[in-house]
Amino acid sequence: MEIQREFDLMIVPTKGEIDVSLLSKKNLCLSVVKPNIKDETSSQELNTILTQYLETLSQRKQYHIGYPINMSYEHHAVLAPFLQFSLNNCGDPFTHSPVDFHSKDFEVVVLDWFAQLWKIEKDEYWGYITNGGTEGNLHGILVGRELLPSGIIYASKDSHYSIFKAARIYRMEIEIINTLANGEIDYANLRSKLLLNKNKPAIVNINIGTTFKGAIDDLDLVIQTLDNCGYSNDRYYIHCDAALCGLIVPFIKHAKIITFKKPIGSITISGHKFLGCPMPCGIQITRKSHISSLSKIEYIASADTTISCSRNGLIPIFLWYSLSMKGYAGLQQDSKICIENARYLKDQLLKAGISAMLNEFSIIVVFERPCDHKFIRRWQLCYLSNMAHVVVMPGITREVIDSFYKDLMQERKKWYQDGTTIPPCLAKDLGSQNCLCSYQKMHY
Ligand SMILES: Cc1ncc(COP(=O)(O)O)c(C=O)c1O
Repeated sequence: MEIQREFDLMIVPTKGEIDVSLLSKKNLCLSVVKPNIKDETSSQELNTILTQYLETLSQRKQYHIGYPINMSYEHHAVLAPFLQFSLNNCGDPFTHSPVDFHSKDFEVVVLDWFAQLWKIEKDEYWGYITNGGTEGNLHGILVGRELLPSGIIYASKDSHYSIFKAARIYRMEIEIINTLANGEIDYANLRSKLLLNKNKPAIVNINIGTTFKGAIDDLDLVIQTLDNCGYSNDRYYIHCDAALCGLIVPFIKHAKIITFKKPIGSITISGHKFLGCPMPCGIQITRKSHISSLSKIEYIASADTTISCSRNGLIPIFLWYSLSMKGYAGLQQDSKICIENARYLKDQLLKAGISAMLNEFSIIVVFERPCDHKFIRRWQLCYLSNMAHVVVMPGITREVIDSFYKDLMQERKKWYQDGTTIPPCLAKDLGSQNCLCSYQKMHY
């Protein structure tokens, strides 16, 4: 079975066509033999390099629509002074640090906010700020394994590669479950695999927004499937990978709620995705009772509950600042706008006869893969098989969408004008109902 691998998605050969790198790598080279001369000329050179790089990044921001990163924030003016200090939230956030250079008070307040969002009492949860969704997933699966040592991981094939990585690192058995055309886990396939392995406990990964199609698995249906297959509460552990949509779903009316009131073990999100943070980060929340077996380390006066030891102490301050500034209302507004803008883009594409799909409550518009690398690179698009996607994050305004759409329409005319190349068929990737290609029209 083919597993979606983000590694493949990330590699877009540039062949040097894009003139975005105003920098020459040669200018950046550091020498170990020559002393670093701190005279005025060399510091001017450094400033020029940095200014050029800053300009490049600022220009390219308008074309960053293929990956789920929110770069629409104004933290830097207020928070830059904290860069003077090396803040390290070493180890467990709830144990006191023997030094002052940490931000654990901010971290715990941020964690409390998420615990409240996901409806778990302060004294019943444990969590920490991770280096990203991947670390959260590794932690979630680790906690599941601690509780159910002989458990098998169940994950849909559209799950993020960090889940498969967890299985490899922890040397755990994994069952890969098929997905429906929209990317959701195939509940019937899950059921048959659960029944096949009834003698072993289940550690189930649920996607609250898959990486490529933004599909949200039905948590209630998965719990029901586990119950129907005869798995009692103490024989399963559910980890929710909510990397992107974990901060969208709670703010949308009618969307199914992810909450610790249901029998789940952990929830993970990426902090740099929907909320936005200049440093990659994530939030991992689990039940306090689940981590009690983890050991205490005398050297750092902390419990060995986190995956990394040293942790970035600037991140909790940035997250705390964003949550304070935006609040519930701001996040609700961001979610609403992004969903509306995603629907707008999908409708534009469909009106133009371009195959496109958008899951309910998702901000990821999946459409035909452009056939030109220059175009893919210009818009920093992510692709897989015959599909590409745009992630309509905060900051991706209607103007940006319109400019992307206009460019796509102009380029498409060139790509397909003489009929020798035709748009790709997406029936296999998205289901025939979502494919508008001419082959599809002729054959279905
Ligand atoms: C569903 C899902 N889970 C986990 C991750 C990994 O998150 P991070 O990049 O923060 O490690 C991603 C990243 O795109 C994702 O889409």
